[in-house]
Amino acid sequence: MRLSINIDHVATLRNARGEEEPDPLTAARVVERAGADGIVCHLREDRRHIRDRDVELLCKSITTKLDLEMAATQEIVDIALRLKPDLVTLVPERRRELTTEGGLDVVRLRRSLAGTIKRFHTKGIPVSLFVDPRREQIEASREIDSDMIELHTGEYAIARTGRTKQQHLRSIRAMAAFGTSIGLGVNAGHGLDYTNVPAIAAINDIAEISIGHAIIARALFVGLENAVREMARLVKTR
Ligand code: PXP
Repeated sequence: MRLSINIDHVATLRNARGEEEPDPLTAARVVERAGADGIVCHLREDRRHIRDRDVELLCKSITTKLDLEMAATQEIVDIALRLKPDLVTLVPERRRELTTEGGLDVVRLRRSLAGTIKRFHTKGIPVSLFVDPRREQIEASREIDSDMIELHTGEYAIARTGRTKQQHLRSIRAMAAFGTSIGLGVNAGHGLDYTNVPAIAAINDIAEISIGHAIIARALFVGLENAVREMARLVKTR
């Protein structure tokens, strides 16, 4: 299983002082050196953390791959088409949310998403759609020619009882198998941490997971390189 690391929070900290440090580009280099398979960042409409220049520099200098998370708005789509990351992951975005809340409603948005996917494909950029582990959303993703899906693991991560956690885990497992069976690449992410990740890492149909908050938070205490290595040990069990 591959591990991609979201470095948005490094930019959040930098922006808090309006200075240059900590630099997301340096963080990306450290993360790669520690064994991550890819870098993820989210260029939000309000630029609360990652900025256009960060994406530009990351695209030019990272040695693994850059997955650009983004809302499918005209402005951000145009930027992504110009900068050509290795992958774009389309997510829903609300201005006042603290982090992405839930998957895209691909069923409802299928027409506009299909147009956006086509634009990326004409530039040779593969597209992943961030979706809840629900069959109809995954089918719709396939129908509009998405290359991949990223299954939203947030509900699993915040489930309070063992029983609901197991229910969410079962749906993630079943929907990962379903996605693979209809020809989609399947990734997963959101809310994963050092304790809840092993059960997700054990799902064979998931090719890659994307983690941000838990690793950057752990990095404050053990350093970024160690935080990545610890997570990589849990994730790369197969
Ligand atoms: N995947 C997607 C689509 C996300 O929006 C985020 C949050 O930016 C993540 C994964 C990573 O979530 P977390 O920071 O909770 O690990």
